[in-house]
Amino acid sequence: MPAQLNVASLLGELTLEEKASLCLGSDFWHTAPIPRLGIPAIAMSDGPHGLRKQPDEGDHVGISGSLPATCFPTASALGSSFDPELARRVGEALGVEARAQGVTVVLGPGINIKRSPLCGRNFEYFSEDPLVSGVLGAAFVEGLQRQGVGASVKHYAANNQETDRLRVSADVDERTLREIYLPGFERVVTQARPWTVMCAYNKVNGVYASENRWLLTELLRDEWGFDGLVVSDWGAVHDRVAALAAGLDLEMPPNLGVSDAAIVAAVRSGELDEAVLDWAVARVLWLVDRALSDAVDAGAEAVAQPEFDANVHHALARSVAAECAVLLKNDGDLLPLQPSAGDTVAVIGEFARTPRYQGAGSSQVNPTRVYNALDELRAAVPGGVEIAFAPGFGIGTTTADDELAAEAVALAGLASVVVAFLGLPDADESEGFDRSHLDLPANQTALVARLAAANPNLVVVLANGSAVRLSDWEQHAAAILECWLSGQGAGGAAADLLIGAANPSGRLAETLPLRLEDNPSYLNFPGEHGHVRYGEGVFVGYRGYDALDLPVSYPFGHGLSYTDFEYTDLTNTLTGSAEDGTLTVAVTCTVTNTGQRAGKEVVQLYVADPESTIARPPRELKGFAKTATLAPGEGQTMTFRLRSRDLSYFSVRQHRWVLEGGAFQLAVGASSRDLRLTTTIEVSAPPLTVHLDGMATLEEWLAHPVGSGLLREAIGVDEHGRPRGILGDDELIKVIGNFPISTLVAFPGLGIDHATVDHLLGRLSPR
Ligand code: BGC
Repeated sequence: MPAQLNVASLLGELTLEEKASLCLGSDFWHTAPIPRLGIPAIAMSDGPHGLRKQPDEGDHVGISGSLPATCFPTASALGSSFDPELARRVGEALGVEARAQGVTVVLGPGINIKRSPLCGRNFEYFSEDPLVSGVLGAAFVEGLQRQGVGASVKHYAANNQETDRLRVSADVDERTLREIYLPGFERVVTQARPWTVMCAYNKVNGVYASENRWLLTELLRDEWGFDGLVVSDWGAVHDRVAALAAGLDLEMPPNLGVSDAAIVAAVRSGELDEAVLDWAVARVLWLVDRALSDAVDAGAEAVAQPEFDANVHHALARSVAAECAVLLKNDGDLLPLQPSAGDTVAVIGEFARTPRYQGAGSSQVNPTRVYNALDELRAAVPGGVEIAFAPGFGIGTTTADDELAAEAVALAGLASVVVAFLGLPDADESEGFDRSHLDLPANQTALVARLAAANPNLVVVLANGSAVRLSDWEQHAAAILECWLSGQGAGGAAADLLIGAANPSGRLAETLPLRLEDNPSYLNFPGEHGHVRYGEGVFVGYRGYDALDLPVSYPFGHGLSYTDFEYTDLTNTLTGSAEDGTLTVAVTCTVTNTGQRAGKEVVQLYVADPESTIARPPRELKGFAKTATLAPGEGQTMTFRLRSRDLSYFSVRQHRWVLEGGAFQLAVGASSRDLRLTTTIEVSAPPLTVHLDGMATLEEWLAHPVGSGLLREAIGVDEHGRPRGILGDDELIKVIGNFPISTLVAFPGLGIDHATVDHLLGRLSPR
């Protein structure tokens, strides 16, 4: 579709005031229109798992409600699918709904890393792992944008907590940013080319993300080639001119009369180069143009049939939810339930009747319909099976209600099997604040023990947006199905999974720790006095638990199925070279369904560099893929492709990705702690050389391919041909080898004086 706006000529026609106005919205959800030049406003709307289009101006956190839209599984669930195809389909459906509601940019997906299970917004994020976040985020964006609707990838960057989120400085070293907190954004930007990126509220290393030139320009645009628009999170701008200069194009919501006036004044005074303003304006106009062009492209169909089919989208929401649930345990193959006529299934828990399926805050969707698990189960079981219900506890209360509990326990005793629907109440998980603990409400955990005493055939179905502690009650449950916050189809999906109409294929995208205190961020979360120090560095999530070999309730990647899978035939083929960056390692393995039911497996490829000279996690996920539905006996060969970067770490010293030659371990398996096949590859890579100067240590000089020879030559040998001074004393080298060479000039007898150092430095950089 040809461009609808001539951006270059518009830039010449706009007045300074009009240009400034375009860098702000016109209201809470719209860009500014310039009617005299035919520039329309475009609409933005939350959010990641369903549309939250508010009528009129809206009120931000959803109190005034929003138009009905399909509530798809939240990212906590979608992440557990490990299935980019599914994320793509959800993105597509969201795009269809956005078009139908006249929305141009959907404010999502959120791809921040789950640094701590306490983060109040973890339900909006995919994973503790950057590969999972990036791959699912990119697929979601591709699906959405295929419909001619833009994405806004958020919250860029290091927005990993809600505590003090508008002011806190995330203090993170660059290696950790590059290896953990940024690669998800980098992948989405480079692969899916989102129309917009939303900057975070917080500061990163002391500078507001909205004013952070390194993030918004140097990395995003110069390194990753982002050609879209940067929009502020709602209220993230504090100094409009500084933000503009750093690379922030659009301020939302607009600080009308203040921010625009500041921009005009800064240009007039010469503080802000008008060319910087022109670039931001051009990006706003390109976005508007893209919206106009792509909407026309995406659809004759959309124009002719603006409504979306709510039935079809509900069915999609339900089937996606079923793909996301994680079967944590299943002792004695209690699941799937196979009730027959005359059996009673006791369904316990208010959540079975009053489902919790999404979190609170700006992502809250007004669903087109919600069916609860109780009704869905009743509809799904064969005739003659009784589904009896007792609420067991009240939601939002923590003290046990003796009557409710006694009724539930009595019912459990009469049933052939008990299914207890437990979870976190709304008030526990929301945008705006973090949790203070991982526990389920005490009235629920107390009830579990009593239910199990009455009937050991106890299944627990969980609804929560982030990890909960299981270790204090899970021994009572024979089976646990973690459904996360799975959208409006959650009830139907739970029924399908419980009776085996669907086979669980979700895997944990975050570790479930035994205790909060074990989480790697524990000592540094959520910080204090305006700073949160990411002291665990790259050891986030399983990278940290595995490094410390800590026992966990369930490891990253874990999830059972109603069938079994065998892994065989791990192969690897190296091509290209690390030297010129063309290194590729093709890895294959075969996965075969060795059980009795059709099912899908998530095959995970972990990489380890046991010989690394720096501290690295014992293994890191570098590839994953979900099999097709495999019939019993059927196998599938999975192929992964690793590149240099997948074996590298980010060197702060060299300021680049570094691949150290040597042995690497490749392992495929079903979780970070269930590695089924392992192999070792040898990779040759150019040796690392440190920059030699006066502050380089004696050891560094001796390890350097050129420096070593120069030093030996300069110190020389005695009449017997033995090295002089320090070089003749291996024991002393051990002791003072870590002294900078320029410091050693003050130590007599070593053979190193000022003249030696000057000579060495001169030889290294001859004039
Ligand atoms: C949230 C964003 C959201 C925006 C608009 C902010 O408070 O952090 O995720 O898109 O509001 O509702």
